[in-house]
Amino acid sequence: MEQTLSIIKPDAVRKQLVGKIISRFEENGLRIAAIKKLHLSKEEAGEFYAIHKDRPFFKDLVDFMVSGPVVVMILEGSDAIAKNRELMGSTNPKEAQAGTIRADFADSIDENAVHGSDSKDNAAIEISFFFARREIF
Ligand code: CMP
Repeated sequence: MEQTLSIIKPDAVRKQLVGKIISRFEENGLRIAAIKKLHLSKEEAGEFYAIHKDRPFFKDLVDFMVSGPVVVMILEGSDAIAKNRELMGSTNPKEAQAGTIRADFADSIDENAVHGSDSKDNAAIEISFFFARREIF
């Protein structure tokens, strides 16, 4: 069993897509091991996305991620990291395969509905960023 971090971003929360997105995970073999809704501060969003701090899109990314609440989850299942990325589709929704979350629900590369960990190492870092042991079931 593997765990990965998923964020339902402010655009999808605003559009009331939380239930539909969670259904995609649950219907495709991913179990929710932890979940919460929160509003990130600029400092938190900057720290979470520190890996992108030198990229030209960093400021817009942080501004967007603090524009409203997000829902963060730990998804668990066999090959959870790859499975989640397959269900999300490409970062740019215009390139995402039909039937993926980003193809169906996202508007642009900046407002792309969901985030998912891209590796085992980053999943561990991202999970511990948001969740304490006692919040994981
Ligand atoms: P995410 O998977 O959350 O990781 C970083 C985010 O930066 C990404 O999704 C996009 O929403 C956003 N972003 C904006 N422009 C780009 C870009 N050119 N390449 C990658 N990510 C981008």
